[in-house]
Amino acid sequence: MSSAALSVDPVSGFIGAEVDMDLSRPFDEDTREALNDALDEHHVLFFRDQNLDPTSLKRVTEAFAPLMRVPYITPSPEDPDIIAVLKEASEEKIANFGGDWHSDFSFLDAPPGGSVLYALEIPPHGGDTMWASQAAAYERLSDNLKKEIEGKRAIHIGAPYGAKSPPKFKDKLSASIGMTRGDPEADRQRLHPIVRTHPRSGRKGLFVNPIYTVGIEGMEPDDAKHLLSRLYRHATRPDLTCRFRWAKGSVAIWDNRMTMHYALNDYDGQRRLLWRTTFAGERPV
Ligand code: SIN
Repeated sequence: MSSAALSVDPVSGFIGAEVDMDLSRPFDEDTREALNDALDEHHVLFFRDQNLDPTSLKRVTEAFAPLMRVPYITPSPEDPDIIAVLKEASEEKIANFGGDWHSDFSFLDAPPGGSVLYALEIPPHGGDTMWASQAAAYERLSDNLKKEIEGKRAIHIGAPYGAKSPPKFKDKLSASIGMTRGDPEADRQRLHPIVRTHPRSGRKGLFVNPIYTVGIEGMEPDDAKHLLSRLYRHATRPDLTCRFRWAKGSVAIWDNRMTMHYALNDYDGQRRLLWRTTFAGERPV
């Protein structure tokens, strides 16, 4: 049984920290609390050289919140709570899973609180993942822009999974991840505040993303598009990001409320496989 205190080393100025611990061993309540505090502070935590099976991966995930099953994506045959994030070596010149800036499933009433990725097979180069701090992004907005978005709600929709707007890359998206398309439930629009407050840390962060946010309540579509583009440009500035070089056994745990992430698609001809679990969140406020 391992116990706090944790060794936590930030990897950039605003987001990300490496934690030195063995996640395969059960940990006590103090360690669980310390991990949650570290996640609140750094938004994404990285662990090297881990050896997890589905049971230990799920136990790690549950240290943050109950496991959540996500809609539209076929779970791994190993376990219904795990998604296999896979791109085969043969899948060239196709879109990859998570290959644009996004927060996961932001179109749900209660989007996930966060996720865990565990690397099983990683290309010798390429296939990194980036995260951007949406807390730092909000804090660094100009006062004018903060005023402009205050109290506003954005429109989110699961369009890539819906019946109304088939995905742009339907024929070219990686076939290695089974996705249910054409679900009318994904066409339902949800409104979430553009600025949300973290339920534990009380920090505010931007909560809009280029994959699932399609407009702003009460705003003309062109004006909303323009405002969202300005926010995305600011929110993904390289100085607000960190980039993780995976190796077999690496784990990343991120807070989906205060981050966006981006899976780089620069490893055609190489196989990349990670297991992914998700933990529950709440309706953004
Ligand atoms: C994702 O969850 O968006 C995928 C991340 C990755 O494959 O690096």
